[in-house]
Amino acid sequence: MSRPASLELQAVRKVFFPGTANEVVALNGIDLEVPVGQFVSIIGSNGSGKSTLLNTIAGMYPVSSGCVLLDGVDVTRQREFQRSRLIGRVFQDPTAGTAPSMTIEENLAISFMRERRSGLRLGVTNRRREFMRTHLEPLGMGLEHRLKAQVNKLSGGQRQAMSLLMATESEPSILLLDEHTAALDPKVAATIMDLTAKMVSERGLTTLMVTHNMELALRYGERLIMMHEGRVVLDLGPTEKEALQVSDLIDMFHKVAGEAFAVDRLLLE
Ligand SMILES: Nc1ncnc2c1ncn2[C@@H]1O[C@H](COP(=O)(O)OP(=O)(O)O)[C@@H](O)[C@H]1O
Ligand SMILES: [Mg+2]
Repeated sequence: MSRPASLELQAVRKVFFPGTANEVVALNGIDLEVPVGQFVSIIGSNGSGKSTLLNTIAGMYPVSSGCVLLDGVDVTRQREFQRSRLIGRVFQDPTAGTAPSMTIEENLAISFMRERRSGLRLGVTNRRREFMRTHLEPLGMGLEHRLKAQVNKLSGGQRQAMSLLMATESEPSILLLDEHTAALDPKVAATIMDLTAKMVSERGLTTLMVTHNMELALRYGERLIMMHEGRVVLDLGPTEKEALQVSDLIDMFHKVAGEAFAVDRLLLE
């Protein structure tokens, strides 16, 4: 078990293929302080560095320069597997967060055991199942009655709900959501968003949520960050955010990106 932590990025740069013709500056000096329990929404055009930001926090690859701190501890040099116990992640692809050919209970057993919850050894099946049911029931998807169902038989929404459960159950230091509702149809996406907000607030999770949907970014989270070309170009707190509409965000985006910037998903939403 870990617990929600604060996050700090200091002058983080990430350059892919440095010094070559293919050089990409994905993160160009990110300074960011996120206090414990804050829920931050992140928007930005395609290729602005949103996923790289989350990957950097997760330690998926080394940064080019700068530091990442969790609760004030410098984890910059820790490898991904060393940080993985501290970090919960849900990706866009519903098949990414769970093992498809395994059953619901097998998936949960693995993630719960990873947290070394006492009394959850493989042998104690009835207690373990009861424990799983109590976790699945609040998802409101009836999964508590389908412990033996293979995960690849579940819908995208059900799989994302499971991914969320598995990512948050350990109360990670930080929860990273990368367009985790983008592949779902709107109604299911709304259900998953509500579930996300509920889990985040119940557990007080420090959360970064990337979304291409400005409506969602305005509605959820108490802070909104806009990225462009590897930088944070807009950082709004709860009061500023509340007063905004999608059209204001588009105007702000135009101001920072310039009118010449190609119309992309961000603007089409
Ligand atoms: N693993 C990688 N290898 C090389 N280039 C990458 C890698 N990941 C991202 N990039 C590049 O970094 C830039 C930012 O990408 P990304 O963080 O995925 O943007 P976003 O999530 O905002 O759409 C893009 O130009 C992308 O092509
Ligand atoms: Mg991305």
